[in-house]
Amino acid sequence: MPPFRSLITRTRIRRGVEPAVDGFPAPESIEVGPRSIKAGDTYYRTLVIVGWPREVSPGWLQPLLSWRGAADIALYVEPVSNDIAARHLQKQRARFSSSLQKVGVADPMTEVAAGDATDIARSIAKGESRLLRVGLYITLRASTLEELDAEAYKVKVACSSLLLDARPTSYRALQGWLTTLPLGQDLIRMRRTFDTAAAADCLPFATGEMAGHASGILFGRGVSRVRSDSGGSPVFVDRFCLPNHNMLILASSGAGKSYTAKALTGRSALQGDEVLIVDPDDEYVALTHALDGEVIRDPSIAPSENSRIICYALGQIDEKQLHLAVGQALEAVWQRVDKGELRRRQVVVDEAYLMLRENPDAAHLLWALIKRSRKRTCGLTIITQDLSDVLSTTLGESIINNSSIHLLLRQTPHAVEGVGAAFGLSEGERQFLVAAPQGHGLLLVAGERAAIRVVTSQLEHPLCVSGVPGLLGKAS
Ligand SMILES: Nc1ncnc2c1ncn2[C@@H]1O[C@H](COP(=O)(O)OP(=O)(O)O)[C@@H](O)[C@H]1O
Ligand SMILES: [Mg+2]
Repeated sequence: MPPFRSLITRTRIRRGVEPAVDGFPAPESIEVGPRSIKAGDTYYRTLVIVGWPREVSPGWLQPLLSWRGAADIALYVEPVSNDIAARHLQKQRARFSSSLQKVGVADPMTEVAAGDATDIARSIAKGESRLLRVGLYITLRASTLEELDAEAYKVKVACSSLLLDARPTSYRALQGWLTTLPLGQDLIRMRRTFDTAAAADCLPFATGEMAGHASGILFGRGVSRVRSDSGGSPVFVDRFCLPNHNMLILASSGAGKSYTAKALTGRSALQGDEVLIVDPDDEYVALTHALDGEVIRDPSIAPSENSRIICYALGQIDEKQLHLAVGQALEAVWQRVDKGELRRRQVVVDEAYLMLRENPDAAHLLWALIKRSRKRTCGLTIITQDLSDVLSTTLGESIINNSSIHLLLRQTPHAVEGVGAAFGLSEGERQFLVAAPQGHGLLLVAGERAAIRVVTSQLEHPLCVSGVPGLLGKAS
C-alpha cells in the first residue's frame, strides 16, 4: 500500500509536468470520482464480484476472462490456514444446526448449505482440500463516461449469465483501479471462500493432471502450458477400464497422429493384446515386423493360424482400388472381432475411414465394429485429420460419441473453432492446440483432461516415425 499512496500523491503534486515518478510509469493526473476515476484521458470503473453461484464447473469463468472489450481482470487467491479454516467451518456448521433447530421444519437452503459445509470440513480434515479466499475484480476502460456506463452494463449482463453479481466499488474507485493493476495488491478485499477444486475451476486453462489407471499403458507425460519441458508426471490409461474401449485421434497433418498410434499400439501388443491394423500407407510395417507380427498385402488372404499382430498394409495397391481393399481388410477384421476367440483386441484404422465414403458397405462395417466393440473387448483406434469430415457423417458422429478417449494434437487455426466447440475446449486450450509442437496435445478421457506430450524410448522412436528410415529424427 505505501508505495502506491506516495505514487498517487506525488503524481498529483506534479500534475501535468512529468509522467513518470520514481521510475514508475504514471498518468499525468488522476481525478477520483465516487464510481470511476479519470487517469490521463481515460475513465476507469472497477466492478467487484459480490455474489457467486453455488456450484461451478471447470473453466466456467472463461466467457468473462476472454471478454473482448477493454477490461483488466484481477483474480486474487489467498490460502486460509487449516486451523482457521477448521474453526470457520465449525462455527458455520454450528450456526446452521442451531438455525435448523430453531425453525423446527427443514429449510432446504440451510440444509444444502449445512451439507456443503460438512463435506468441505471432511475433505479438509483428510488433507484432500484447502480453503482459499478468492476475489475477482474487473476494471473497465473508456474515453467518455457514457461509454464507460455502457461497457459496465454489458459486463454486468455477462456476469449475470454466469450467476455472478458485479457491483461498482463505490467511493473506492481509486482502490479498485489499483487492485486490478499488476501490482498484486488487493485493496478492496471483497472475497469469497472457495475450496481448492472450486478455485481451480476459476482458472482459464482448466487442464490439470490426470489420475489415469495403474494397469494402463504410457500415453505421455503431462505438460504445463507455460513450460514446454517434459517434466510432468506420466499419464497411464487403460482403455479396457473405460465404458467403451475406443479412441479417436484428431489432428492436422504431420502433428504426430500415426506416430502416437504406433507407440501406443506397440505398448499394447507388448501387454499381450491382439492387434489388427488397417494401414493404407504401409506405415506400420516396421513396427509389425519388430513385434514379430504378420504383414498382409492382399486382404483377401487369411492370416496364418497363430498370428496375433496383423497389419493389412495396403500401400502397394492401386489408388483406385484402395477403397475396395480397405473394405476387404475391414471385413477380415470384423470376422475376427465378431466370430473369433473372445480376448483383448485392438483395431487401428489410420486415415482409412475417409475412403469409406466411396465404399458404403465398408462404412457400415466400421459402424458395426464401433457398436459391437465393447461387448467383444475390442478397442478401436480411429485416426483422422478433419473434424468436419467426421462431423458431417452419422458414422463420424458415432465415432466421437462411442470413443471414451479423444486425443487432440495440433490443430490449424481454421479447424480449432470446430474442434473447440465439439469438445468444449476453453480459449486457453484452443490456443494451446494451435501452437502445439509435434506430439503435444490434449488427452480427454471419460470427463478428465490433461495436456500431454507423447514420449517414446530410443527403441520405439525409429519404429514410430514415418518416411524413409535413415532420415530418423531424435528420440524424445
Ligand atoms: N511425439 C513425437 N516425438 C517425436 N517426434 C514426433 C512425435 N510425433 C511426431 N513426430 C515426428 O513427426 C513426424 C510426423 O508424424 P506423423 O505421426 O506421421 O504425422 P500425422 O499426424 O500426419 O500422422 C514423425 O515422423 C516424427 O518424425
Ligand atoms: Mg499419419
